Amino acid sequence: MAGNRTLTIVKPDAFGAGKAGKIIAHLESGGFKVVAARVMHLSTAQAQEFYAVHRERPFYGSLVSFMTSGKCMPMVLEKADAVASLRQAIGSTDPAEAAEGTVRKLFAESKERNAIHASDSDENASREARFFFAEADHL
Ligand code: CMP
Repeated sequence: MAGNRTLTIVKPDAFGAGKAGKIIAHLESGGFKVVAARVMHLSTAQAQEFYAVHRERPFYGSLVSFMTSGKCMPMVLEKADAVASLRQAIGSTDPAEAAEGTVRKLFAESKERNAIHASDSDENASREARFFFAEADHL
């Protein structure tokens, strides 16, 4: 993946509430192109591995429970400067602190049930895209 790709997940809170379409439309109107997408229900082992970097955090168990509570929608998105641009578009982790017009301000419930994930670096974007997709899925 070049620097113009990033990985996002519409999380189970937003997907289960039928907000995926609105979130994708919001991102597309912000210039993001969907280059790969799938709907899946993460296993506990998958969620533990995906969030392994947070293993020592007090919210890790709760985060894994939440992320396995229903279907989610991982996607590879494309835009110039994709990682930084998507993090700006989704807003702060806590929707109460997220800027107006951001995905989390518009669609998130709480700091944990925060509607959407976005990779935090090009390196993690590549790693996270490989976690969910084969290279051939996002040529
Ligand atoms: P995200 O940034 O996608 O990845 C880590 C996730 O952990 C984050 O979204 C939230 O869903 C969750 N998270 C981060 N901080 C907290 C917290 N203090 N309490 C509960 N969940 C959190």
